[in-house]
Amino acid sequence: MDTPLVELDSDHPGFRDPEYRRRRDEIARLAAQHRSGDPPPRVEYTPVECETWKQVFERLAALYPSHACREFNAVFAALAYKPDAVPQLADVSAFLQERTGFGLQPVAGLVSARDFLSALSNRSFCATQYIRHSSQPYYTPEPDIVHELMGHAPMLAIPEFADLSQRIGQGSLGATDEQVECLATLYWFTVEYGMVRERGQLRAYGAGLLSSFGELEHALSGSVEVRPFDPWEAAKTPYPITTFQPLLWEVPSIAAAFSRMNEYLSAS
Ligand SMILES: [Fe+2]
Repeated sequence: MDTPLVELDSDHPGFRDPEYRRRRDEIARLAAQHRSGDPPPRVEYTPVECETWKQVFERLAALYPSHACREFNAVFAALAYKPDAVPQLADVSAFLQERTGFGLQPVAGLVSARDFLSALSNRSFCATQYIRHSSQPYYTPEPDIVHELMGHAPMLAIPEFADLSQRIGQGSLGATDEQVECLATLYWFTVEYGMVRERGQLRAYGAGLLSSFGELEHALSGSVEVRPFDPWEAAKTPYPITTFQPLLWEVPSIAAAFSRMNEYLSAS
């Protein structure tokens, strides 16, 4: 038997499921064998995996009209994901290439902030290809294909957002560890948890919000503090990773998020 590539924590929903762990390894191996520049490998998802996708997909898709930003909803419609089949990274990557030149690069799991940001500078987005455990379809302790394809992919098809992502990545090139930490925090507060005000209404544009209906509902519940995005202040602000975010940052447009970030990076 091969040595496992993927280690799960003892509190991971799939920890006690040998079939899930075998499957995680199988998909991780595909990512490990993938050659940069090639399209992501195709995965034949099982009926259990497709059912998990369907459950999360339907719940999130119902919230988007009232909770997601306008640009996201336009791309989400164009992507035309089906509830019954997990979309393939290769197809979504080709869609993004055409729109903004971004590509999805399969990874086995979390990569370091420096490697992740460096890939962004080349318009390459590191994306996981496995799906969360079926016992908890509305929860995942780590990024999975639902997070990547529901949260990140539609935004990466928007030119201003693609520029914002690449700009954060460019800021990491040659940066010190401390500067990379600040950039990872800014990435968190924008690409993962950013909010945009449209016609007076707050809407989500961050993938961490758009891929979790609990977090998405909470973000717009009125109980979260939302401040105008100030990269200098946000870069130094700690955030929790295991609870809903108590503080979010809003911009008047995605283009404004890019220009604020650009000001910050040009000055540092
Ligand atoms: Fe993410």
